[in-house]
Amino acid sequence: MARAEPWNGGRDSFDFRTIVDSKNERRDGPKPVLFLFTIKCSLAMVEPCWREHIAMGKTILVTGGAGFIGSNFVLQEMQGESASIVNLDKLTYAGNLRNLESLAAGRGYEFVHGDIGDRGLVRQLLDKHRPGAIVHFAAESHVDRSIRGPEDFIRTNVDGTFALLEETRAHWSALPEAERKSFRFLHVSTDEVYGSLGPDDPPFSETTPYAPNSPYAASKAASDHLVRAYHHTYGLPTLTTNCSNNYGRFQFPEKLIPLMILNARDSKALPVYGDGKNVRDWLYVEDHCDAIATVLRRGQPGETYNIGGWNEKPNIEIVQTICDLVDEIAPRTEGSRRELITYVKDRPGHDRRYAMDARKIERELGWKPKATFESGIRQTVRWYLENEAWVRDVTSGSYRQWVATHYAGQ
Ligand code: NAD
Ligand code: TYD
Repeated sequence: MARAEPWNGGRDSFDFRTIVDSKNERRDGPKPVLFLFTIKCSLAMVEPCWREHIAMGKTILVTGGAGFIGSNFVLQEMQGESASIVNLDKLTYAGNLRNLESLAAGRGYEFVHGDIGDRGLVRQLLDKHRPGAIVHFAAESHVDRSIRGPEDFIRTNVDGTFALLEETRAHWSALPEAERKSFRFLHVSTDEVYGSLGPDDPPFSETTPYAPNSPYAASKAASDHLVRAYHHTYGLPTLTTNCSNNYGRFQFPEKLIPLMILNARDSKALPVYGDGKNVRDWLYVEDHCDAIATVLRRGQPGETYNIGGWNEKPNIEIVQTICDLVDEIAPRTEGSRRELITYVKDRPGHDRRYAMDARKIERELGWKPKATFESGIRQTVRWYLENEAWVRDVTSGSYRQWVATHYAGQ
């Protein structure tokens, strides 16, 4: 029989490095040895229960696992020996099964082509696999597309999340108590729900009021509110993560970093919006996936966790760094790629600055980013330059059409 312990599904043990007092403040007092000893003892007692869960082969239902962050997460999780994942993805322009081709067929992994808004399909998957957790990535995710056509964003991010929550609630309510207690619904969200910061404002914390400015941000904010309400009203054990801008392998080249790498490679113009001084807080995708895994296993149901890289940079600096790296790795005779930088018309309603205060997840769950921006961006540039087949695959047909329309007349 499974017991009601935090869902673990394959990880080993807690790694408490920071002591937290009742006011949630960091404290480096004289008693950590005793405290750590106590934690270790209690962990030794609960660990067998986690093993029981693993032995039962608790599956994670991942939505949007063929996209940028989702596929990195699936690959990372599948490294665990007892991992079992069902990946539900609609395969929109942003979903790509090539990302997952390194997974050995049949070893605890199943792909399902479908829409999170298809309630019959979701119900069937929940009944068949009885997942111990759902990790919900599926979304329309590009701000510029949301400005040109917000409808898909409402359909997937709001209606789709609602449908998923409704089916999850029905399924979860009927589970035996132990499974109900250990179940988790983790909703992956963004820093953009908090709006825009002034130059001297403190970073967004979990208590910053929501003020979404783009249709994308508004649709994600709506989904966050639904998730919150399902915990508050029905007791569904939800977790929400709000993360800053990610970069790394498999990101669709409509987003700043891969777009600039590929344009620089091909000696094409590098379109910087406005004055190039908008600031984003960049996080390497593997660190984000690691944070999600941490929240899934150690997070407190009903809580939200901000995730960020402590790495604020103006766009122009990012683009210059990319130019220099591409020059270094793939030199050209016509001069520095920086000469390709072209300032273009600004994005409407362009948020000036995002920055995340990620102290809560560090203090309470022991997570912090491992990659530095220098190491992460170098690896990312190298990956895009070395994976020609992947790039060719995603930059055909509809991608070319998007680029031609979006940057027309710039
Ligand atoms: P992405 O656009 O690369 O991937 C989205 C995936 O969802 C694709 O595989 C797509 O096919 C799938 N999908 C879309 N609609 C679907 C539907 N109706 N049913 C099933 N699958 C569907 O997105 P991403 O950058 O990997 O982002 C993943 C999640 O993380 C999103 O919820 C996004 O809001 C959030 N997020 C992204 C970032 C970032 O910098 N990329 C930062 C913070 C949070
Ligand atoms: P993006 O990657 O679209 O992420 P988000 O809008 O979610 O932050 O854009 C990152 C920043 O880069 C944002 O300030 C807009 C800017 N940007 C450009 O200057 N030029 C571009 O061609 C793109 C796609 C983005």
